[in-house]
Amino acid sequence: MPLMTWTKDEYGTSVDVCDQQHQELFNRLNTLNDAVSDGERGAIASRLDNLIDYVVEHFQTEERMMEEKSFNGLAEHREEHENLVSTCADLQKKFHANEAEIEAETMAYLKNWLNHHIPVTDRSYGPALSG
Ligand code: FE2
Ligand code: FE2
Repeated sequence: MPLMTWTKDEYGTSVDVCDQQHQELFNRLNTLNDAVSDGERGAIASRLDNLIDYVVEHFQTEERMMEEKSFNGLAEHREEHENLVSTCADLQKKFHANEAEIEAETMAYLKNWLNHHIPVTDRSYGPALSG
C-alpha cells in the first residue's frame, strides 16, 4: 500500500512542474517504503539515495523559480528545505555507516514533513509562480 497518494485537492500548487515533481517524489517515497516494509537493506540503501537525490533536485527547482519571480517568501521556504536536507544527509550517512536504520518511524517523519510542507509552504507560492 502506498505511503502517500498525490491528489490535486490535497497537494495541488497550481504550478505544473512542481505538481509533477511532487508526484515523482511520492513515487520514490513509496518505493522506499516498500523496501522498508520488506526489511531488505540493499534495496533500502539504493532507494534512499534515489529519493534524497530527487529531494535535492526538486528543492533547487522550487528555489530557482522563486528567485526568478523575486518571491518574498523565499528565505523562509529555503530554510525549511535546508532543515530537511540536513536531516536527510545525516540519516543517509548514518545508514550507510550501519549506525542507523530506516524504519516505519522514519517514513512517518518524512510523510508528516511533506504533509505540512506541500499544502502549506509550497502552496503559498502558487499565485506568484503560476502567473
Ligand atoms: Fe518546497
Ligand atoms: Fe515541493
